[in-house]
Amino acid sequence: MRLSRRYRFAASHRLNTDALTAEENAALYGKCNNPFGHGHDYVVDVTVEGPVDASGQVVDRQALDWLVREHVLARLDHRNLNCDVPELRGQVATTENLASTVAAMLTVRWDLPARLARVRISETTRNTFELETELETK
Ligand code: NI
Repeated sequence: MRLSRRYRFAASHRLNTDALTAEENAALYGKCNNPFGHGHDYVVDVTVEGPVDASGQVVDRQALDWLVREHVLARLDHRNLNCDVPELRGQVATTENLASTVAAMLTVRWDLPARLARVRISETTRNTFELETELETK
């Protein structure tokens, strides 16, 4: 059985890499390279998978919510993804890299009997990034 639960946070970022010149960054990332950044209202869907337990549930939703709030949302909401998130330092703050970071933040702290199966992040209504997690948890 799979359960997906939806969360939201707001954050700012700028897409830029030190590996390229200013002109190359502007050409590669377009408006997303604007010097002072811009914000998104991100939507995160966390999917867990496992057998249905004696309570008739695949996961304790309060426990899942606490884990996501404490270890993901509290660290990302109203932050600058380029500066405020150590796991993203040295990486371009794309939502691809953000999805991997969120999956890692959850995996490190995961203590639920259900497996973390997928992390999906929507940056805009047009862009959704999805990561199937292969790491066995607990
Ligand atoms: Ni952006």
